[in-house]
Amino acid sequence: LKIESVEKDFYGRKIMITAGPTIEAIDPVRFITNHSSGKMGYAIAEAASKRGASVTLISGPTNLSPPSDVKLVSTSSTLDMYEAVMEHYGEQDIIIKSAAVADYRPNSTVDKKIKKQEGDLTLTLVRNPDILYELGKIKDNKVLVGFAAETDNIIEYAKEKITKKNLDLIVANDITQEGAGFGVDTNIVYLIDSGNNIKKIDKSNKTDIAHQILDKIKECL
Ligand code: CTP
Ligand code: CA
Repeated sequence: LKIESVEKDFYGRKIMITAGPTIEAIDPVRFITNHSSGKMGYAIAEAASKRGASVTLISGPTNLSPPSDVKLVSTSSTLDMYEAVMEHYGEQDIIIKSAAVADYRPNSTVDKKIKKQEGDLTLTLVRNPDILYELGKIKDNKVLVGFAAETDNIIEYAKEKITKKNLDLIVANDITQEGAGFGVDTNIVYLIDSGNNIKKIDKSNKTDIAHQILDKIKECL
């Protein structure tokens, strides 16, 4: 028998978490997407829910089952996710954007399969909206948390994103390190707040990291 006792320190708080990838259709059989298992976002959703928060999880396609007591909104493209986020934004206290959002989408999707031809195929990609940037522009007294998956200059790039997107906190990880990032159950992250305080969390499982992110968010409330 395992009895879990978790302090309900997020009781009464409304948290929206985005997780997983977005996918952009080229035609009915082909798409472009980003690496993302959704594990980090789902771990935060589960941890927040256990700590008493009302959680809305906006998720791109993953193989994960949503934690119990979480309101799941399933999305596909970046534009879908943008719409779902804006629909639920108003009532939230905290927004955590762990989704791996596709920065570009094909300029047009065709409803018939593109037949293979001789020679190459050229795709034109257009910019998607930056959901987090848009939220940063309208932020009032909500806590806004972003993620940054980087391969180099992690701290510098993450700090730039805090400023540009008007964030309270960013969770930055170096995806080139073993045991960090996509697909795996562990992560190695830096928590950087808008006051430039940096905290490194050594390799830990995503549930532990989720709780540490929530602990840090509590300081921002
Ligand atoms: N993000 C978003 N909408 C986008 C792109 C990113 O909401 N169209 C969010 C992500 O969910 C993440 C944060 O912005 O929380 C940073 O994403 P990232 O891809 O690291 O940053 P970008 O600003 O897209 O810059 P780049 O990909 O060039 O590093
Ligand atoms: Ca990006």
